Amino acid sequence: MKHALITGVTGQDGSYLAELLLEQGYGVYGIMRRKSVVDYGNVEHLKDRIHFIYADMTDIVSLIAAMQESQADEVYNLAAQSFVATSWEQPLATAQIDALGVTNMLEAIRIVKPSCRFYQASTSEMFGLVQAIPQDEQTPFYPRSPYGVAKLYGHWITKNYRESYNLFACSGILFNHESERRGLEFVTRKITNAAARIALGEQEYVELGNLEAKRDWGHSKDYVKAMWLMLQQDTPDDYVVATGETRTVREFAECAFRAVGIAIEWQGEGVDTVGINKANGKAVVKINPKFYRPAEVELLLGNPAKAEAKLGWVREISFDDLVTRMANHDLELVRKEIAARAINV
Ligand code: NAP
Ligand code: GDD
Repeated sequence: MKHALITGVTGQDGSYLAELLLEQGYGVYGIMRRKSVVDYGNVEHLKDRIHFIYADMTDIVSLIAAMQESQADEVYNLAAQSFVATSWEQPLATAQIDALGVTNMLEAIRIVKPSCRFYQASTSEMFGLVQAIPQDEQTPFYPRSPYGVAKLYGHWITKNYRESYNLFACSGILFNHESERRGLEFVTRKITNAAARIALGEQEYVELGNLEAKRDWGHSKDYVKAMWLMLQQDTPDDYVVATGETRTVREFAECAFRAVGIAIEWQGEGVDTVGINKANGKAVVKINPKFYRPAEVELLLGNPAKAEAKLGWVREISFDDLVTRMANHDLELVRKEIAARAINV
């Protein structure tokens, strides 16, 4: 039985990857941070099937111990402070976890089991102020946030350990991927959750920032397959994983509201833009400049040709399917909240 160690197992991608690896027959080990209240996050449903190890990306001692305990054949480094907006508020913590944390993990592998294969969760955020459209493995990087800068370090140190120590180390440059398990602060889930609450009369409107930002959005379940495929190749390499389609936040909002039965009409411009529910004339989307970023990534559009050709990776979940799944999930969640409240009255 192969052993895999997943850092960030409680997060969105960690949970889908754990499901995939368990299906493949791996012994799955997952790194968890100590919290005051035990919380398995997105892997609550798998808690009896994963071997949890308490560790932290900023503590190399704990990562060495995790390698010793798991004797992992494959490490998937998904742990990160992953919310771009927070990286301006906590630039140093972001760097400690997302940049130096990668070196900590690579060193732990080098010391304990250098034959172990390593996956680094790199990101399209490294392209930032994009130097080419679409972006592929050859596109120069220009990060626009402390998060992007920290991830760029993680990306290069992974390449450097591959070249310096001959480690089987790969980076997946993944474009935005979402799901029913996405954190509520990310724009897609913020919108689907708010749309569901508005449709069910639990909320009046949602406040957003830059509606014109464009992203290449796929589903996490498809993207974790690419991570696994990268570590099954004969040689280590870096790959862009994306859909090859890009849409604005405004378009995402239109689709999400449509999915819960609300047709939106836009009025006004810039900070005065309002999304109106055509059926009753009420404002359901407003702009709040507090959600603007100090430096914005305006356009991401990836070219997944290399991953498709060399890994045989295929995306199975379309954009419309992604939005519908998220919206339906949130409708169900809000209905359950309403039902639970009714029982307690
Ligand atoms: P996520 O849901 O935010 O999960 C992040 C995980 O990292 C959580 O399990 C979190 O644990 C853990 N973590 C944070 N700080 C840690 C620390 N100091 N030590 C140990 N664990 C720590 O993120 P995701 O969307 O699944 O993304 C997975 C990875 O892919 C991240 O590295 C992200 O930067 C990268 N990425 C994501 C996307 C995307 O669109 N989703 C695209 C490109 C790259 P807690 O539960 O304790 O907070
Ligand atoms: N979060 C958020 N909230 N974003 C908003 C809002 C809002 O109210 N209004 C507009 N946006 C815009 C942001 O300015 C950004 O341009 C876009 O929506 C997407 O924001 P997020 O969903 O927070 O994701 P991200 O693109 O910044 O980062 C995600 O994707 C990266 C890959 O490109 C994260 O998952 C990163 O971890 C990942 O590396």
